[in-house]
Amino acid sequence: MWNFLFPPILKAYIDAVCIAGKTFQYTENRPVGLLTDKKAFHIQASGGIYSEGPGKDLETGHAYLGKVMKFMGIQSFEGIFVEGMAYMPDKAEQIKEEAIGKAIKAAETF
Ligand SMILES: Cc1cc2nc3c(=O)[nH]c(=O)nc-3n(C[C@H](O)[C@H](O)[C@H](O)COP(=O)(O)O)c2cc1C
Repeated sequence: MWNFLFPPILKAYIDAVCIAGKTFQYTENRPVGLLTDKKAFHIQASGGIYSEGPGKDLETGHAYLGKVMKFMGIQSFEGIFVEGMAYMPDKAEQIKEEAIGKAIKAAETF
């Protein structure tokens, strides 16, 4: 997370792949996503906590990515929040290890 969003290189990637006729298409009534056979997974690392509590309103990146994935036809969008390492530096290693465990588990069924 960079300033409540993801780093700009990821936005550049989205802008490079979110292309009419390639990943979505306009129809008479509405745009339709074409990536119906794809899945996406977002791992968000942040110094603070945004998946719950008072920071939840500031969580923008994961929510936005979910919308863009859906727009391109990707229905399966999951994620892991690796968060609070700056907020709780004494727990940083534990937070990271737990997130690695979640990632391994998620990879087994992805
Ligand atoms: C430019 C910049 C902006 C950041 N903005 C936030 C932020 O808004 N909120 C937050 O909790 N952490 C913020 N951080 C901390 C990072 O999200 C955190 O260190 C994260 O672990 C970085 O992931 P990485 O180790 O994969 O680079 C920022 C870090 C940088 C370098």
